[in-house]
Amino acid sequence: MTETDITRLTIRRPDDWHLHLRDGAMLRAVLPETTRHFGRAIIMPNLVPPVVSGAQAVAYRDRILAALPAGANFTPLMTLYLTEETDPTDVRRAHADGIATAVKLYPAGATTNSASGVRDFDKVRPVLEVMAEIGMPLCVHGEVTDSAIDIFDREAVFIDKVLKPLRKKVPDLKIVMEHVTTQNAVDYVRDSHKNLAATITTHHLIINRNHILAGGIKPHYYCLPVAKREAHRIALVQAAISGDKRFFLGTDSAPHTDPAKLQPCGCAGIFTAPNTMSCLTEVFEVAGKLKKLEAFASLNGPQFYGLPPNDATITLEKGAPVTYPATIPTDDGPLTVFDPGFDLHWRVVD
Ligand code: NCD
Ligand code: ZN
Repeated sequence: MTETDITRLTIRRPDDWHLHLRDGAMLRAVLPETTRHFGRAIIMPNLVPPVVSGAQAVAYRDRILAALPAGANFTPLMTLYLTEETDPTDVRRAHADGIATAVKLYPAGATTNSASGVRDFDKVRPVLEVMAEIGMPLCVHGEVTDSAIDIFDREAVFIDKVLKPLRKKVPDLKIVMEHVTTQNAVDYVRDSHKNLAATITTHHLIINRNHILAGGIKPHYYCLPVAKREAHRIALVQAAISGDKRFFLGTDSAPHTDPAKLQPCGCAGIFTAPNTMSCLTEVFEVAGKLKKLEAFASLNGPQFYGLPPNDATITLEKGAPVTYPATIPTDDGPLTVFDPGFDLHWRVVD
């Protein structure tokens, strides 16, 4: 069967290796959108206040579990928000107790709720040494925050100025470069043969910076790292469809209500959880690589994290355009769902 004849595809149940679920009413509104299709997700800790300790991660995990829809088969994999005060002993214990899967590094000021992040990387060195020793991955928001650096260059500069020196100092540390957006990051990951991988979002496989800025400003396409020019988007697609084990899905589905996004200083984040699998399947089909979708969405991530792939499967079927709500109601206002700008034909049927 050639690619064009494929109208039904069964893959292992996917996981989302970078997800924002928030808390309270927003958590209850968005959680079913992920649990419908995904088996596990790495849960981002950038709440207000952030999830910095093992005890806070347990409490947040319990709130997520309490909000699960009836019958959902979903495991939240918790992360700890790295600060300059993080206690290495607490990290060691949270990992050993199966509470925290990874630690998240936000350079201070890089993105939504990152004010408590790291300014002086030497201060977190003892935590990173412990993580290297116990094999606990560090998830990195890879952008410098220097206001003198152009926002479109912040990922590339981060690689040279922060990531390379850090990997030299702690070579045994497993690192995930989160939501990569540039050819530079793809090349850097491809050239590294140990302890480095990258997540790629759904939206960065679909939009470039013209989608945000040409023909009127589109706040619903604004996220961080900001989408780059088309050549970078193509590099991301090439990495995703390659089957290379170092690239896997992290949607970075990041819900903010419309009132929070549509204002003079709107929030960064794109909400892709409801239609991510339909979007991704379309991207892989257009590239003629449907058979690589499973590696990207369901196999490469668990392998890097040292976990087995999910036993369960999902089946996608091609047909008439998929309908999905343009917005989802929350107690705090409507939440706009990512619009890929083209019809989606693949729906999860099983
Ligand atoms: C994320 C959020 O809203 O929490 N926003 C985003 O634009 N991706 C934070 C992040 O992952 O940078
Ligand atoms: Zn994120």
